[in-house]
Parts: sequence; structure tokens; C-alpha cells
Amino acid sequence: MSSSRTPVIAGNWKMHKTIAQAEEYVAGLLPRVADVEGLEVVLCVPYTALQAVVDSTRGSQLAIYAQNMHEAPSGAYTGEISAPMLTELDVHGTLLGHSERRQYFGETDRALQLKVPAALEAGLAPMLCVGETEEQRLAGDTERTLRHQVQEALEKVAVDRLTEVTIAYEPIWAIGTGQVATLEQAQEAIAFVRALVAGFDKDAAQQVRILYGGSVKPENAAELLALPDIDGALVGGASLDPASFAAIIDAARS
Ligand code: 13P
Repeated sequence: MSSSRTPVIAGNWKMHKTIAQAEEYVAGLLPRVADVEGLEVVLCVPYTALQAVVDSTRGSQLAIYAQNMHEAPSGAYTGEISAPMLTELDVHGTLLGHSERRQYFGETDRALQLKVPAALEAGLAPMLCVGETEEQRLAGDTERTLRHQVQEALEKVAVDRLTEVTIAYEPIWAIGTGQVATLEQAQEAIAFVRALVAGFDKDAAQQVRILYGGSVKPENAAELLALPDIDGALVGGASLDPASFAAIIDAARS
């Protein structure tokens, strides 16, 4: 981690936790993060539990994000959720382009090109996820894939707002598999993503936060977070339990 960028530890619950389970979790997490400083802690919560989690974490260090958002403010898009629906709940931000959205629900780079600026305009912090499949990595296509994803998604973001976007590099082969990227693979890919941001603006590239995601656990968090270009972690499975998520937060503090 670099001392000039505030680190972010984000938990992505995915499709886990009812409102009752979310409230139990928050009650377990809050005392564990009460004295966290110099670090942003984010929870990406299912839509149905957002209101409850925003309310029960008000005044704490936790920022509450959605896991997706439609680019239009309203319209005939059955089943979708818009930025004004999230800001009304005092939600702070949203994940965009998570690989599970891309893989299973047809999320495209073209849609992300509209979603990222729409989130910023609405006052929601976008956390843009990028990452290659195992086939792409084996074929030597990692950089080409990342270039396409980053350039398309950031193309319509005003240069002076680039630093408000957090990027999460999540190699798909490392998600939920226990097969974490090697330190070299993670550092190399994230430095490459930072260089892509420099293609838009050199100063923004030095300030933008880029996280690693994919099988981050309390046992491997510290060594990943020690890498120079990695500004935090996006955690799936290990964020579902307040004790293990707090252990990852502790790794970022030490
Ligand atoms: P895991 O930490 O379960 O591998 O999930 C990573 C992820 O997809 C977070 O968004």
C-alpha cells in the first residue's frame, strides 16, 4: 500500500444475508471496527438489506454500497435499481461490473461506460471491477482484456473525477476458488491497471485506489496489502463473517 492513498477494505456479500442476518452481522462488526482510522471500510449489501444496514451503521466508519445499479435514473427496466433509489437510502456507492454480473447477467463494457459517470453524477462512489478469465490468462490475453475493460468503462468519466472511481482487479479464476493470485501476478496486473489510468491522466493514476479481489482471507491479506500498487481488498467469502472480515481490516491497519 502507498501512504499517499487511503486504503479501502470492501466486503461483497453477493447474494447472502436477509435483513435479520445483516443486522446480526453489523452488531458483530461495529465493535470490531470502532477505532479504525486512516482506512475506508465498505460493505456491498443486497438491495433488500440496504436500508437496514445504512440505518444501523449511521455515524460509524462503514460506507454502505449496492452491488449494481442501472445507468438510467428511471424507466421501463423491470427488476433494475437506479441511482436516485440508492441515494434516497443514503447509500454511499455501488459496485459496478462485478465479474458475476458480466458472466451471468450480460453486463457489458458498453453499459459500464454509462453506469460509471451516472453513479458519479448522482453522488455515488463507483467501485469498478475488472479482471480476466483463466482462459484469457492462459492465452496471454490478460493485458488486452484489462485494457479493453478499463478504457471502455472510464472513457466518459470527466478527468477531474477519475480519482473518485475505485477500481477492483479481480481475476475471475481467483474468485471463490481459494486460488489466490501470486503476489507477482497481483502486483503486475494492478500496476498495469494504474498505467491504463495514466493514459487518461498521470496525476489521477497516482491517486486512484486499485484493490485486489479473489480469495482474500485473513491469512493472505497482509502480504497482498504490502504490495506497492495495491490499495486494499475486495473480499467475498471471507467478508461474510464479522470476525474474519475484521481480521482482514486489521491486516490493513498493521
Ligand atoms: P472471494 O473473496 O469469495 O473469492 O470473492 C471475491 C469477489 O468476487 C469479491 O467481489
